[in-house]
Amino acid sequence: MLTAFDGTRKIDRTIIALDCEADKAIAIAYALAGRAKWVKIGMTLFYAYGTDLVKMLKDRGYQVFLDLKFHDIPHQVLGAARSAAETGADMITMQTSGGVPMMESAQQGAREGAARIGADVPVTLGITVLTSMDQATLEQVGVMRPMQEQVLSLAHLTQVAGISGVVASPQEASELRAVLGEDAYIVTPGVRPSWAAKGDQSRIATPADAFSNGASHIVIGRPITDAEDPVRAFEMIAEELA
Ligand code: C5P
Repeated sequence: MLTAFDGTRKIDRTIIALDCEADKAIAIAYALAGRAKWVKIGMTLFYAYGTDLVKMLKDRGYQVFLDLKFHDIPHQVLGAARSAAETGADMITMQTSGGVPMMESAQQGAREGAARIGADVPVTLGITVLTSMDQATLEQVGVMRPMQEQVLSLAHLTQVAGISGVVASPQEASELRAVLGEDAYIVTPGVRPSWAAKGDQSRIATPADAFSNGASHIVIGRPITDAEDPVRAFEMIAEELA
């Protein structure tokens, strides 16, 4: 599928999720510096090590995906996005269920934070429905329509709000690409090379399939972080995608 991202190598659009202890995360990031372009840190590491960790990764030359999934009133989210952008983060997330005004505020905050440090505005992504939710848990929180309809309708709101795109499962990527158009960021976790263990991910695709389904970027964690040789695991993924 032709997308606005075709000019860059797929391996440079592969994001390594550093969901491990800080020492190990830093060791892996250092070992892969210069080879991998993107790393993702989430709440566990960020709440423990904060902006220092982001700066350390930036100093190693990484683009940093800071996955904190904002969900609060617009005023608070504006400040959160501004502070996140000021750390130098290159990609940030929010819950689309926070609504259009909240997402617009996140976008404004991202712009303001980037301006303060003279950086590019980070990519702003909306989470539609968490992949841990099924139809039953969706209904428990009052959403009665089918999952797919809910995902597509929330994804549409990211465009209304003017944010960069969505985080989605690789199975949803092709339908989302058709709805969101060529320029949208569609970032997919749940990616497993054929040689890797599935772990707790159920709706998975290989790196190549995730990209051909329409992902602009893929997120891979444990197949790299749990590998005996993370550098070799990364190189095998690069070879697969070349
Ligand atoms: O180790 P693994 O490759 O499964 O890591 C996937 C990463 O993507 C984790 O950081 C996880 O939190 C994140 N993620 C996910 N499913 C979502 C959203 C984020 O697996 N729907």
